[in-house]
Amino acid sequence: MAHETVKRKADHIKICLEKGAQARTATSGFEDIHLIHRALPEVDRQRISISTSFLGKKLSAPLIVGAMTGGTEEATKINASIAEAVEKLHLGMGVGSQRAAIEDRKLEKTYAVARKKAPTAFLIANIGGVQLVHGYGLKEAKKAIEMIDADALAIHLNALQEAVQPEGQTNFKGVLAKITKIAGELDKPVIVKETGCGISAEDAKALEDAGVKAIDVGGVGGTSFAAVEYYRSTNGKAIDEAFWDWGIPTAASLIEAVQTVKIPVIASGGVRSGIDIAKALSLNASLASVSRPVLEAAVKGAKETQELLSCLIEELRNVLFLVGAENLERLTKVPLLVAGKTAERLNIRDFDTANYAKRSTSTFEY
Ligand SMILES: Cc1cc2nc3c(=O)[nH]c(=O)nc-3n(C[C@H](O)[C@H](O)[C@H](O)COP(=O)(O)O)c2cc1C
Repeated sequence: MAHETVKRKADHIKICLEKGAQARTATSGFEDIHLIHRALPEVDRQRISISTSFLGKKLSAPLIVGAMTGGTEEATKINASIAEAVEKLHLGMGVGSQRAAIEDRKLEKTYAVARKKAPTAFLIANIGGVQLVHGYGLKEAKKAIEMIDADALAIHLNALQEAVQPEGQTNFKGVLAKITKIAGELDKPVIVKETGCGISAEDAKALEDAGVKAIDVGGVGGTSFAAVEYYRSTNGKAIDEAFWDWGIPTAASLIEAVQTVKIPVIASGGVRSGIDIAKALSLNASLASVSRPVLEAAVKGAKETQELLSCLIEELRNVLFLVGAENLERLTKVPLLVAGKTAERLNIRDFDTANYAKRSTSTFEY
């Protein structure tokens, strides 16, 4: 079993690097979010503050690297590169699903390398929600946390991936009750994340009620696990292709979640630039999370990973400068417009786009 899991994780890395496996027709929706340029920013770029705190830990910028890997030698190198970079930059990271090492202790080091290389960074352990339905419980959750001395545990929800993968586990009945139990009994905060299909307002509310401490929307617009499974299947099964772009776009999922819950919401799924990060934060995301672009840098090394993350941070800082926001709090107040398909979709769902429209017509502060 552990062997199959490891093989699958190795396939994911290979496919994401070689084929991309990105959404094709669906977009993240960030193209529908418009921040307004200030010719008179009236701020000193040097003095802009983008530091934040998340679940009690300080971060130099509201950015983490999403859960990706573990289990293999290559994964060890990737986790090490990411960990070294986030430690230097004072950011955070998730490791990939730890199922392989929970089932085979010999693989623990492929995840534990993250804490070794990042003694102080914010680290997130990872297990699958569906595994909770199939026998995992508090013991496995604790094991995942201890393995990397994590600050939080992410429980990932990947119904689409399980549905299209031949060996997928498709019984999700009771998953919310299991999440509630873990969130209630664990002494570390639980984050629930999707993996590329988004989280609706209703599901976000249910997760908040379950005692989850943060939600990562993981919307459509970036890495597509239907695409990954399409490339994994030898004959390119039509069912995977049909679901290639399935899900709630990240920006829409984010707006639904932040308008519904009080717990912090992380934006991920197709976040590809500091501008995307700024847009997410202006919509009240607490953090943004990037995965696939970091994977590409991490296979090259820690230096390349650090360069990529630094570039995203400098882009984010530029946006704050150009919209005249001296800190992240101000970024959530600057004029903003939600347009296009994202606004249409939210209107159909009866979400309060009027609030954003009001921000689009509000005057600048001088
Ligand atoms: C190669 C690869 C492996 C992944 N493995 C996991 C995983 O084990 N657990 C998890 O929660 N998410 C996993 N993800 C999903 C990411 O955490 C993230 O939700 C998704 O890739 C969307 O972000 P992106 O568009 O920036 O890639 C993986 C993503 C990639 C690219």
